[in-house]
Amino acid sequence: MSLKRVLLIVGGGISAYKAPELVRALDKHGIGCRVILTQAGSQFVTPLTLASLTKDDVHQELFNLTHEAKMGHIELSRSADLVLVAPATADLIGKVANGLANDLASTALLATDKPVLMAPAMNVRMWEHPAVQRNLATLRADGVHFIGPDEGAMACGEYGLGRMAEPEAIATALEAFWYKASADKPLRGKRAVVTAGPTLEAFDPIRFLSNRSSGKQGYAIAHALAEAGAVVTLVSGPTALNDVPGVSMVRVESAREMLAACQSALPADIFVAVAAVADWRPETRADVKLKLKGDVKAPAMTLVENPDILATIAQPGPKRPKLVIGFAAETHEVLAYATAKRTKKGCDWVVANDVSGDVMGGESNRILLVTAEGHQSWPEAPKTQIAVRLAEAISAHFKTSPA
Ligand code: CTP
Repeated sequence: MSLKRVLLIVGGGISAYKAPELVRALDKHGIGCRVILTQAGSQFVTPLTLASLTKDDVHQELFNLTHEAKMGHIELSRSADLVLVAPATADLIGKVANGLANDLASTALLATDKPVLMAPAMNVRMWEHPAVQRNLATLRADGVHFIGPDEGAMACGEYGLGRMAEPEAIATALEAFWYKASADKPLRGKRAVVTAGPTLEAFDPIRFLSNRSSGKQGYAIAHALAEAGAVVTLVSGPTALNDVPGVSMVRVESAREMLAACQSALPADIFVAVAAVADWRPETRADVKLKLKGDVKAPAMTLVENPDILATIAQPGPKRPKLVIGFAAETHEVLAYATAKRTKKGCDWVVANDVSGDVMGGESNRILLVTAEGHQSWPEAPKTQIAVRLAEAISAHFKTSPA
């Protein structure tokens, strides 16, 4: 793995206190960094802390003869693979959007020829201010990338959009950025079928049994696989999500429709079953709306089992995809249950979702990846990052066993 380097510009906001944590997170992801600390930033975090963590000088002044002799500010701005601004304050955003350069940070940002990623952080009213939004639009048009801000409680006591993205999320976004930018798309030439969302099992024209699956994780996986170069078909139950760009979408309702759509999307190299398929469906479906009220006793509903899409696709045969991946949601004994599920369903990998605590229905997931070789646990991360990581694992798998 090639070691990447960023130039980290720490602006002057309360979130600057997270800069040491960010340096650590970058280091954990194999990303080295050099730091520019603005004058305002140094009110929240000391240069000594950042210098100790990076084992390097922290650059603070535009006209510093010692630093300028070692590394001029132009070279500083170009010595990294990317310039990361975290926190990106309204002031720094405004300066760069308007081409101002009156300190080391803004000068480096104007002088760089490298991609720039900003992690904005500010009070929610500042974030919403038309002037800030105008500057952001200008920067986006100039090709600057952004991560966050996140929504939440702020140091100023208000609530809303404005918290800096978490250090781990920033480090993962950088990895994803480089992964996406890499010209060598690892899954080029591979076909993938992904299932996502709930299924809907109707018992009359307007009523049905279903579940609360949002489809987010499956859509993110389809997107990540497409970004990695695969030709992707996403077979989705009903969701509120938009179609995934660059992915062939097949929208279905019931488990049986989902199975048929998957089968007609084969052959494929990769099958990822993320859908929360209803295990049961009503035995009969009335053609007209059932009258369920009245003084008769509550009607009984007979349920019959739905086909297991994952197990069906995983059956040995000429059409079996080379890599079949199932999902499992578990609250306890995650490894034992996931291992058993892998065998029972006949799939190659199980992505076990640890849904103990508060991850269910949220934006993030805790994952245990179970394969024939063993298992690995991934730290809790947003669903989009889990998707990128899974796409990377799939790419690595095909690299080592290309057949
Ligand atoms: N699956 C499927 N078709 C079904 C049921 C499940 O393809 N009829 C897939 C899901 O998409 C997922 C995996 O199988 O990849 C989940 O298996 P399941 O046995 O439903 O496990 P859980 O939902 O975790 O439930 P339980 O532990 O109760 O079995």
